[in-house]
Amino acid sequence: MVQRGVILAGGKGTRLGELTKVTNKHLLPVGAIPMVYHPLKKMTGAGIRDILLVSGTEHMGDFVELLGSGAAHGCSLTYRVQDEAGGIAQALGLAELFCKGERMVVILGDNIFHMPLRPVLEQAEKHPNYAWVGLKQVPDPGRYGVAELKGHRVVSIEEKPAKPKSEFAVVGIYIYPPDVFDVIRTLKPSQRGELEISDVNRYYMEQDRLGYTIFDGYWTDAGTLDSLFYANQMVRENPPVF
Ligand code: DAU
Repeated sequence: MVQRGVILAGGKGTRLGELTKVTNKHLLPVGAIPMVYHPLKKMTGAGIRDILLVSGTEHMGDFVELLGSGAAHGCSLTYRVQDEAGGIAQALGLAELFCKGERMVVILGDNIFHMPLRPVLEQAEKHPNYAWVGLKQVPDPGRYGVAELKGHRVVSIEEKPAKPKSEFAVVGIYIYPPDVFDVIRTLKPSQRGELEISDVNRYYMEQDRLGYTIFDGYWTDAGTLDSLFYANQMVRENPPVF
């Protein structure tokens, strides 16, 4: 079973306007807890005890003040600084030493979902050499990475396509084998100037080494005013299972 977790909590949070002028998106409340507690509790609830948090220089001190060593959450926390927001794949690249050649689960710090993480890890366990992604049918797939399915296979992955080929968003919960760091080294920045996680996932798809779990219950990011509001609404109505 996967033993190591990586929470990506960098980025600029510009889509939240004044709310992130002096603080980091992942410190804003979702329900009765700061946003970053959600990925953390998903991981600890699934038995992951070794967790790396990646964030920028501006608010790293706040994360350390909030979470400390991790002892209060029953885990051991390591912190790494991403100097500039060069993309999700770049942030993940900083986890190479931490992962020590082992498989890892990655959660984007602004992803909020109902189901526990454990069943996803168990499904992925059957294919130890695969990358594993979560999929969720959404009404607005063009905001996300989009996966097209044929039979049981993913046949295309596009990042924020103008004309999505399916309703399946690739959610921000990923499991990667250790060769992900070699894949990241081959990436070139996208049009938005970032190293894209969709390019990483496409690599595994092309290698026939990509599996997926379709998520039950709600899933949303919380990176825009609308989705932050929606996440709070969901969490209040139906608390997530950690
Ligand atoms: O939420 C799921 C979506 O997340 C996926 O469907 C997309 O494929 C994926 O690219 C991503 O889309 P966004 O453009 O919405 O991601 P965003 O820039 O909001 O970043 C998501 C999280 O990743 C954010 O909460 C913090 C972390 N992050 C992001 C960047 C760009 C970093 O740690 N460092 C970064 O440089």
